[in-house]
Amino acid sequence: MAYDLIVIGSGPGGYVCAIKAAQLGMKVAVIEKRSTYGGTCLNVGCIPSKALLHASEMFHHAAHGLDALGVEVASPTLNLKKMMAHKDATVKANVDGVSFLFKKNKIDGFQGLGKVLGQGKVSVSKDDGDEQILEAKNIVIAAGSDVAGIPGVDLEFDEKVIVSSTGALELEKVPASMIVVGGGVIGLELGSVWARLGAKVTVVEFLDTILGGMDGEVAKQLQRMLTKQGLDFKLGAKVTGVEKSDNGAKVTFEPVKGGEVTTLEADVVLVATGRKPCSENMGLAKAGVVLDSRGRIEIDHHFQTSVTGVYAIGDVVRGPMLAHKAEDEGVAVAEIIAGQAGHVNYDVIPGVVYTQPEVASVGKTEEELKAAGVAYKVGKFPFTANGRARAMLQTDGFVKILADKETDRVLGGHIVGFGAGEMIHEIAVLMEFGGSSEDLGRTCHAHPTMSEAVKEAALATFAKPIHM
Ligand code: NAI
Repeated sequence: MAYDLIVIGSGPGGYVCAIKAAQLGMKVAVIEKRSTYGGTCLNVGCIPSKALLHASEMFHHAAHGLDALGVEVASPTLNLKKMMAHKDATVKANVDGVSFLFKKNKIDGFQGLGKVLGQGKVSVSKDDGDEQILEAKNIVIAAGSDVAGIPGVDLEFDEKVIVSSTGALELEKVPASMIVVGGGVIGLELGSVWARLGAKVTVVEFLDTILGGMDGEVAKQLQRMLTKQGLDFKLGAKVTGVEKSDNGAKVTFEPVKGGEVTTLEADVVLVATGRKPCSENMGLAKAGVVLDSRGRIEIDHHFQTSVTGVYAIGDVVRGPMLAHKAEDEGVAVAEIIAGQAGHVNYDVIPGVVYTQPEVASVGKTEEELKAAGVAYKVGKFPFTANGRARAMLQTDGFVKILADKETDRVLGGHIVGFGAGEMIHEIAVLMEFGGSSEDLGRTCHAHPTMSEAVKEAALATFAKPIHM
């Protein structure tokens, strides 16, 4: 039987695309090489890491955050097995949820490695060599990304001592010490998990800042807070070697500007230096699907590759490697295939780092506006001046709004603070509608909420904040 659409990959990009296409009346099949649906995000990424981030934060809070509120508890003990069971149950509930949605939408699932044979033809091969050919009017490649390793460094992940994000979600005991290579999103999130549970964590980062690409002021503030939590940072340090040693593993690094080589040893080394698109082993070159110099599938404005009827979305194409960006592309490409006007607004894609406090960002950073020569104004408001934050002892951080100097249109929003990942969305909606800082500042916000700091930052952008 020929399908209207075959989707290769069932991560947030692929499964959302499949469901949307089925809702639009298409007969859809999904090919997935894992034994469960959901891709990296649900199985070994966003979802399990958030389960551990929440649980480890509760542990840390019970030990360090309750006393000041008048809640005196005996020093909490860690049951890591139970914490891991909670993580596994969270993953299971989510991947089962995708299976349920596939059944509900009459989507056929095929387990195996999907290969594009050309326009309208895909093969599914199983580990035992069994191969099946499927036909479809349209193909969407949503194959995601994989751990990249460190360019130029010979590295072997045993996922016990030298671990990627996958192994860092599975450690059987809390390491006494951990070195994190890469001060990006994964390094800081998973480094936080193990630091909260008792590991001495050292982050070694190439750039002079953590969270390169994020607003500089926000990144600096987060670094200060993570340092307070016990994380140690070696910035401007290029890692040139990671290898196993008698007591764990050792990491060799040198100042980027040149200088003395340092070697540090730890029980566990987490390498989090980025991800690469999964564009190999899918027969793409043979099928005529063109890749760019970074191994990403090239697409046009309609997500179509160099082969008619073959589309690609998510981590395997250009743009930020974020689940929600892939999801929105999944919806858009399904709509385009159905003859509708699918579209993604790449100027308004929020990014959240789930540390404590969280960092959330949407639109342009101050550095980007400066580099582009845009005349802008800034409004800022600290959580120390927010009543709800004081009541909860969550006063670390601030909200920063960037707006066009002439038109007042909001160009970016950046929050570091408790619950930042939830608060960012009102700025995203505002930007989607082309709103101004005055629109935001004149919108009534419930009192007392952390979100009032967003309103006050907007007031600070076009006029003056009231509470400062
Ligand atoms: P990343 O690109 O965010 O950070 C990697 C860091 O490693 C960079 O700061 C880079 O300068 C550093 N680095 C590279 N080579 C180095 C070397 N030789 N020595 C020292 N430092 C070096 O990549 P990460 O954290 O691995 O995440 C991968 C992808 O997954 C990202 O695109 C990220 O956005 C996404 N992700 C998003 C999450 C979220 O939205 N909350 C959570 C986890 C991952």
